[in-house]
Amino acid sequence: MSNSENINNSFPQPRKEIIKMNSYSAPLENRRELLRLDFNENTIGPSPKVLEAMQKIKLNHISIYPEYAFLKNNLCLKYFDNKVMDINEIGIFNGADAAINAIFNTFGERGDTFLTTNPTFGYYFPCAEMRGMKIIKCSYLGDSFSFPLKEFEEKIITFNPKLIFICNPNNPTGTVLKAEEIMRLANYYKNSLFVIDELYEKFYGDSIMKIIDFEKTKNIVVIQSLSKTAGLAGLRIGFAFGNKKIINFINKVNGPYDINSFAVIATIAALDDKKYIDDYISKVKKARFWIKSKFDTLNVRSHFSGGNYFLLWPKKGSTYLEEKMRSKGILIRAMSNKKNIEKSVRISIGTKEQMILFWNLYKKIDL
Ligand SMILES: Cc1ncc(COP(=O)(O)O)c(C=O)c1O
Repeated sequence: MSNSENINNSFPQPRKEIIKMNSYSAPLENRRELLRLDFNENTIGPSPKVLEAMQKIKLNHISIYPEYAFLKNNLCLKYFDNKVMDINEIGIFNGADAAINAIFNTFGERGDTFLTTNPTFGYYFPCAEMRGMKIIKCSYLGDSFSFPLKEFEEKIITFNPKLIFICNPNNPTGTVLKAEEIMRLANYYKNSLFVIDELYEKFYGDSIMKIIDFEKTKNIVVIQSLSKTAGLAGLRIGFAFGNKKIINFINKVNGPYDINSFAVIATIAALDDKKYIDDYISKVKKARFWIKSKFDTLNVRSHFSGGNYFLLWPKKGSTYLEEKMRSKGILIRAMSNKKNIEKSVRISIGTKEQMILFWNLYKKIDL
C-alpha cells in the first residue's frame, strides 16, 4: 500500500448517507456591492434602530453566554398582532435553516418517509438525505403551479409520511395552500408532523398562526424568520412555533447557546420597530404589483404569486440573462437545477426603485 492510500484511509469514514448525499450549495460570495435580487432577502437592510442597538452592545453581552427569556417574551408580546402565545410554544434557532435541520434531527428516522412538493426550497432535501429518509415529491400543477392537493393527499394515504413540509407561499413558485386546508389535512392525518415553512407569509398574509391552537392541533409546526422581512439574514435568527411538547423535543437537539447575543439584541430592536418591517413589506407588495403590470404587457412568460419574488422565462435563456445582469450589477437566480422550471430565473422583489433598475436593464438585455 502506498503512503497516499495510507493517509486517505487514516480517518474514520462518515455515515454512508453523508458520503452519498449532495451538499447544499448556493452562490453566496461577492454579493455585497451588487443589487441582490437572488436570495429573496430584505433588499434595504434593517431598521436603523437595529444598528444602533448593536453598536451599543455591552461587553458583558459578548463575554457572557446569551440569555433568551427576554427575547421570547418580546416575541409573545410584539411579533403577532392578535395572537397570545405561550413562551413554551416558541423555539428560537440560528436562522430558519437551523430550525428545519433540528426538526429533521428530532423526527427523521432512517427509512421514514418525507413528503414535500416540487419544486420547492432546496435545503429540505439534504436534511432528509442525511437522516436516510425516503423522499417523496409531489409536483405543482400546470403553468400556474397550483397546489396538487388531490395527489398530495393520496401520497399521505399511501406512504404515511413521518414528516410533511409545505412551503407556504412556496419558494420558488409562490403557490399558496389555504390555512384552513392545511388544518384539515393535519387534523385528519395525525401520524404526520406538518411543518409549514412560512418564510414568505408576510408578503401574502394568510398565516396559519391566525387560526391555529397548538393545544388542539399538535402535529403542526410553523417556521418563520427575520431574514426576508426585517433584514437580519446575516445575523441568523429563525423561529419554530408549535405545541409545547413538540417544541421541547426540537429544542433538545439544539446546542444550548446556538443563537448568539448579537442576534438576540438585533431581534429585540427589530421587534421594537415593527413599523419599519411593516412599511418594507408594503413597499415590496406595491413593487410586486408594479413589476407584474410591466410583464403583463410583454410576450414573455412570467409567474407572480404570494412571495417577494417571481419567475421569468427569458427569451435568450436563463443563464445568459443571469450572467449579463451580474456583469451590470444586478443578481438574479437561474433555476436550472429545479425540476419543471429549469428554463426560468427567479427574481426577488425589493422596492419599486430597485425594480425600475431591474426592468430597465432587463429590457436592454432580453427584448
Ligand atoms: C422557504 C425558505 N425556508 C427557509 C429559508 C432559510 O431562511 P433563514 O435565513 O431564516 O435561515 C429560506 C431562505 O431562503 C427559504 O426560502
